[in-house]
Formats: sequence, structure tokens, C-alpha cells
Amino acid sequence: MLRYENVSASYGGFQALKDVSFEVREGERVGVFGHNGAGKTTLLRCGIGDVGEVGGRVLYRGEPVESGEVYRNARRGIGFVPQGHNVFRELSVAQNLTIAGLMHDRGGIEEMYGLFPILRERRDQLAGSLSGGQQQMLALGMALMTRPSILLLDEPCTGLAPIVVRDVLHSLRSINERSRTTIVIVEQNVQATLREVERALVVKTGRLIFDGPSAELAGKENLWELF
Ligand SMILES: Nc1ncnc2c1ncn2[C@@H]1O[C@H](COP(=O)(O)OP(=O)(O)OP(=O)(O)O)[C@@H](O)[C@H]1O
Ligand SMILES: [Mg+2]
Repeated sequence: MLRYENVSASYGGFQALKDVSFEVREGERVGVFGHNGAGKTTLLRCGIGDVGEVGGRVLYRGEPVESGEVYRNARRGIGFVPQGHNVFRELSVAQNLTIAGLMHDRGGIEEMYGLFPILRERRDQLAGSLSGGQQQMLALGMALMTRPSILLLDEPCTGLAPIVVRDVLHSLRSINERSRTTIVIVEQNVQATLREVERALVVKTGRLIFDGPSAELAGKENLWELF
């Protein structure tokens, strides 16, 4: 569904991604791991066409993901939740969801409330005054309002308490199981994420050094040395 063919990516003269090849299949849940600066965000951004200098190619359903065409790529069904809480803080929960769904039918809001009941409870509260975990759920809900076929998430659990991390990861799994939305998630919470994904990728200084079942990575004794 999303295929990377010998992808490299640079910022100025610096090569952040080197000859990376893999394919995410429809309906899969994939975790992407690696040290700070390894190239995880760059890898995700290549998937939506948000990196300028790219070698090789990224294909979505067989058609190229052109760089610089983020909006068009999003319309094709690629959803992206960037690092940090991306909500309109001065607007209410309901207004955030409405804006996110403008391109589509409004019926989706009820579905999001079904998925995240806390958002229904807080529908009139300003997004900026939600807790970190609630804001993350809202950001997820907003991404889902665009009805993506594949959702790329960059560290959605940063700064959240372990129990909330489990909630968010679990919600992602339900979204995947309910609607077959393909999930690619970058996370620092390696163990918790490995329990919720089927497949793992490890990036080290711009190279893909592991691509296999998450259970295989979880079972590796030298897991931490790998990174
Ligand atoms: N806009 C940019 N300009 C220059 N260098 C960049 C830019 N964005 C990223 N880099 C560099 O590319 C490398 C990979 O960055 P990237 O953000 O992909 O790493 P990451 O694995 O997501 O790290 P983290 O875990 O800290 O989020 C880093 O060395 C970073 O400094
Ligand atoms: Mg990053």
C-alpha cells in the first residue's frame, strides 16, 4: 500500500535517510523505532511528501507520493499526525472536529465521540484546556475525520502517563481493527508499542536495520543495543 523504494532524504548537505526500502501492506499496524535523530520523523514525512530532497521513490497504491504535494497526498488518503499536540487551542473540542471534517460529511463527529467518549463529555471545552492525553485523542480524532486509509503518527504518546499511553495505543488498535485503517506509528515507548503492532522497523543513523515481526524484536535480548 505504501512502498518505499531505495529512499534517501537530505536536509542541505546532510543525509538523514539512506537507501530505505520496505512496504506497508493494507490493514497492517507497523511501529517505527530508533534513537533521537535516527531519521524516524524524516521517514514518516517522506510518506506524505513533506521532505524536499528525496532520492528513490515512495509509492502509495502504486502511484508516486510527490514531494511538496502534502495536501494532495492527504486527499488521496494518507493521514499524518505530526509530533506535538496539534489542536486549535482557542477552539472547543467540537469546533476542532468540525474543522477537521470540513472536506467530508459531518456524521464522522459522532463516530469520534463513540471512539473517544471523553471528547463527547468535553465537547464544549477549549482544546487548549484539555489534558495532554485528551488533546492527543482530539488530534487523533481530527486526523481520523479526514478518513485516511493509512495513518502516519509521529510519537503520539510523548509526555503521556503510562496508563494513557496504553489507552492511546489501544485506541489505535481498535481503529485499525474496526475500519482496517493502516497504521504506521513512531514511538519512544517501545515495549508498549510492540504489544500493539504486528511489525516493527528500526532506523539507525538513517538506515533501516530491522524489519520484521514485532514479537521477534520484543524477544531480542540485545534489543537496546540494536538502537
Ligand atoms: N529541517 C531540517 N534541517 C536540517 N536537518 C534536519 C532537519 N530535520 C531533521 N534534520 C536532521 O536529520 C536527522 C534525522 O532527524 P529526524 O527528525 O528524522 O529524527 P528522529 O528519529 O525523528 O528523531 P527524534 O526521535 O528526536 O524525533 C537529525 O540528525 C536531524 O538533526
Ligand atoms: Mg522525530
